[in-house]
Amino acid sequence: MNSKLERQVGSILLKHKLKVSERTLKRFLNFLESIIDELTPELIEIFVLDNLTIGESYFFRDRKVFDFLKKVMQYKVEWNILSVGCSRGEEVYSLSIIARESGRNCKITGIDISPQRIEEARRGCYKFWSVRFLSEDELERFFIKNDDKFCIKSDYKANVTFVSGNFLTVPFSESFDIIFARRVLLYAENEELVVRKIYSLLKNDGVLVLGSGEYFPTVLKDFEPINECPCVYKKVSRKSSKFSDEKHVKDKRPKTSFISTQEVKYLKEAIAKNLENELALEPTIRIVEHCLENKILSEAENYLAILVRKYPTHYLVWKYLGVLELEKGNYEAAEKHLKKAAFLNHSDDEIWQLLHFIKGRK
Ligand SMILES: C[S@@+](CC[C@H](N)C(=O)[O-])C[C@H]1O[C@@H](n2cnc3c(N)ncnc32)[C@H](O)[C@@H]1O
Repeated sequence: MNSKLERQVGSILLKHKLKVSERTLKRFLNFLESIIDELTPELIEIFVLDNLTIGESYFFRDRKVFDFLKKVMQYKVEWNILSVGCSRGEEVYSLSIIARESGRNCKITGIDISPQRIEEARRGCYKFWSVRFLSEDELERFFIKNDDKFCIKSDYKANVTFVSGNFLTVPFSESFDIIFARRVLLYAENEELVVRKIYSLLKNDGVLVLGSGEYFPTVLKDFEPINECPCVYKKVSRKSSKFSDEKHVKDKRPKTSFISTQEVKYLKEAIAKNLENELALEPTIRIVEHCLENKILSEAENYLAILVRKYPTHYLVWKYLGVLELEKGNYEAAEKHLKKAAFLNHSDDEIWQLLHFIKGRK
């Protein structure tokens, strides 16, 4: 391994306060070594920012969040919104679309650490992958087709600004009504620093939006989950903040499962009648989530015991076995189960966050 290169990459990560796994870093250094003759310090920095952070995003990701904000936007006319880690601008333009549809004046700023992604955001032209969940009608209303690209109409570019830089170091002279920080905290070497800056930039009663399934206990100290929509939080003013101790933080974990009482009843009856073969994975997982959220741990354990016999290679079974052990305070067992879950599906962000959480407690 080229130790000069290793030091250079290390200092760039340090400068931007980013963290990456050892395996990813090793693979990346091998790649850089293979093109070492072409590299300049500036190019190395661009490579680090583009390759060691993932820019995956798409229009109307977690659509229920946008539907919820559309309702919230009815309450006033002027909105100032910040999208931290906006990647190529998909989130920013999705917001611009709902603001226009709601007849609201909205100023939206997107910031990303990758200059290349910001350049693409300013251009606003996307491959089909970024718009894959939009209907034909939406594609027609919001974009102009340019060869194989979908280019956002100029209407949605008004009042939108993109900034290239690290959120932690770029100064802002205004405060915001809503801050999006979806799938960004997982890159932060110190997530608390990011959360503190978000807190200071939000107006009183401002809203923070995280990614679906993201769980950061530090966030819950000064923000209150909004029950109607998972991953959306309201800022709590410091004086009235009552969530500073660990116990409250744990209890305030946002609710992610919506399960009807009828469904609960059906599943419980099926279990009682020993109809194991009837237990489909997805609804049973939902009842497990329901039990875990309501701290009915022994029932969650019973369901999981059946699921692990029936679906021994499904990552969700191991993930929730991990969450169960975490709830019981058995960090080592939780870590073992979560590592299996991560092995079976390495793209579930929440598993990595839970493992990260356990690492910090051990
Ligand atoms: C996975 S993308 C998420 C995009 C979008 N927020 C979403 O959820 O669809 C994460 C983005 O955060 C950016 N990022 C990570 N750390 C950052 C920081 N400290 N400041 C600004 N951008 C950052 C990365 O460059 C990447 O484009």
